[in-house]
Amino acid sequence: MPASDPSEEQAIASLRPTRLAEAVGQPAIVEGLGIAITAARRRGEPLDHVLFHGPPGLGKTTFAHIIAVEMGVPITHTSGPALEKPADLVGILSNLERGEVLFIDEIHRLPHAVEEYLYSAMEDFRVDFVAGTGAGAKTILYPLEHFTLVGATTRAGLLSAPLRDRFGLIYHLDYYSEEELTVLVTRSAAILGVRMEEDAAREIARRSRGTARIANRLLRRVRDYAEVRAGSRVTREVADAALTREGVDTLGLDQMDRLYLSTILDHYDGGPVGLEALAATLNEDASILVDVVEPYLLKSGFVLRSPAGRRASEQARAHLGRTGQSHQPRLL
Ligand SMILES: Nc1ncnc2c1ncn2[C@@H]1O[C@H](COP(=O)(O)OP(=O)(O)OP(=O)(O)O)[C@@H](O)[C@H]1O
Ligand SMILES: [Mg+2]
Repeated sequence: MPASDPSEEQAIASLRPTRLAEAVGQPAIVEGLGIAITAARRRGEPLDHVLFHGPPGLGKTTFAHIIAVEMGVPITHTSGPALEKPADLVGILSNLERGEVLFIDEIHRLPHAVEEYLYSAMEDFRVDFVAGTGAGAKTILYPLEHFTLVGATTRAGLLSAPLRDRFGLIYHLDYYSEEELTVLVTRSAAILGVRMEEDAAREIARRSRGTARIANRLLRRVRDYAEVRAGSRVTREVADAALTREGVDTLGLDQMDRLYLSTILDHYDGGPVGLEALAATLNEDASILVDVVEPYLLKSGFVLRSPAGRRASEQARAHLGRTGQSHQPRLL
């Protein structure tokens, strides 16, 4: 996902862990990568290709950079949509040294013609590049150095099987627990020099939609609020007031989450409603709903998905104060 606000994203980047030992949570990834990286380094070999998939803001880009640091190699950063033509990809690949990391963000948006060149590049470390067209066309064989491809995607389901199968290490990033985000907020507060009580860190963690990026963003909003309104010291009450001002409710749902749920409840009598109809009513892109909004609402039980469509759960009804209107059987 592209960052919404570049300056905000830059500030948050300073909070990005650069070593595996600094990463919060994601124990399966930290352990799996730790073993793979140690083994590759001992053998003096490049790391296998790695794919990260999961919702936005959980650490895909962060772990890609950590891999490069831990392997002690440079990283080249590009994205699926930026690689418009095969020549764009071949240009980058032919400049990679042995062991270097090529990070392709939003790899599910790679044009098909470009993706096909990746197959032989990943597997045999060569590309057969066809230059020119018609009778004058000739195939140029480019041998490549043994590089490491790191791909990131919010939609693993959109990757073709031939591409997915060429990754040796595949990791799913899951939402962070409240405990993990409390650690993350405490760490970020220390880096930013924010004086914060533990209760306040926990309050921010609880209301961050299980997402590392949101936790860091809300921490910065709480810091601003505390500096202006509360003499810099962040208590739970200060955090609560700042988060409520930001439109984040007591369960951590933001305005879009509430709009999504209230649309199902009020326009579609609680559902089921199909994705396209919902997207049209919300005037929002269906893929934004699927990638950004729904994963957390599904995970936390506010929405239920069935072949017939999306339904709001009893928990959603209760949270939005729509109890008593239901003609449906209890869902929870
Ligand atoms: N494991 C982690 N420990 C501590 N902080 C983290 C961790 N993962 C992510 N972060 C923080 O969250 C921010 C967002 O993470 P990142 O940019 O890696 O997400 P992403 O999965 O690449 O999101 P997108 O899909 O939007 O590209 C980072 O800048 C970093 O500060
Ligand atoms: Mg990213």
